Amino acid sequence: MEIIRTADELRQRVAELKEQGRTVGFVPTMGALHAGHISLVDKARHDCTAVVVSVFVNPTQFNNQTDLITYPRTEEADCALLEKAGVDIAFIPSVEEMYPTPDTRVFDLGPVAQVMEGPMRPGHFNGVAQVVSKLFDMVRPHKAYFGEKDFQQIAVIRRMVEIEGFDIDIVACPIRRHDDGLAMSSRNVRLTAEQRQVAPEIYKALRLGKTFAAEGHGVGPTKALVTDTINSVPFMKVEYFEIVDADTMQPIADWADASHAAGCITVYCGDVRLIDNIIFF
Ligand code: PAF
Repeated sequence: MEIIRTADELRQRVAELKEQGRTVGFVPTMGALHAGHISLVDKARHDCTAVVVSVFVNPTQFNNQTDLITYPRTEEADCALLEKAGVDIAFIPSVEEMYPTPDTRVFDLGPVAQVMEGPMRPGHFNGVAQVVSKLFDMVRPHKAYFGEKDFQQIAVIRRMVEIEGFDIDIVACPIRRHDDGLAMSSRNVRLTAEQRQVAPEIYKALRLGKTFAAEGHGVGPTKALVTDTINSVPFMKVEYFEIVDADTMQPIADWADASHAAGCITVYCGDVRLIDNIIFF
């Protein structure tokens, strides 16, 4: 595996791979890699003949400085995992390399970015659009892979791709969970032993909500059941739980309002912000 730290070298190496007729799959990450990330790499390896992974903790998408400072950074372990997973290129730039001058671009991300994480984390999605558009411009992959844990992020990235006119296939990959149901996340390492023990209650409550809805209960009562169930667990406080049209991300009030519906949740477990979701239909 090659480790590349500059944009110029990355562009040159990817151009060489394309000249050899290789199809390029790209997995952008912020490092602190776990089996969820590796499942994206595996899918990229399955679909493409060269795989590029970026590892970059992007400061412009953090609206909370403490979150940025405490975000886990584990470069050596990340490289070992990527090498083992058969990655061709790990792109690990510095902040100065990615942002030689401040990025002042403001993306018109539209309604998909105006709900849930949008108002809760002002500037977050614009920062994601900035960094992913820069990375896409450097790598120009055929396909790019994102995990469905960040369900709304995928809709935002599709919108950015549309605005920028990138010819890149965005591939959404299923959430990877621990055996007890907790969605894999780089932030899980920040949970205390007691918090880690109760954290699977989030997914349990989401599944309870799905069963409750299938029994004929409405959107409002389903939201209330899931929220109240999680709020009754020690350390846990629901920030929001929205049931949305899975394509537009807009909240629905009635199941008939969408042909695909998803429940998206954010929960503070102590001071660790956990995110998860479930597809209702
Ligand atoms: O999902 C993430 O890890 C990040 O938001 C991404 C897409 C790598 C951009 O920094």
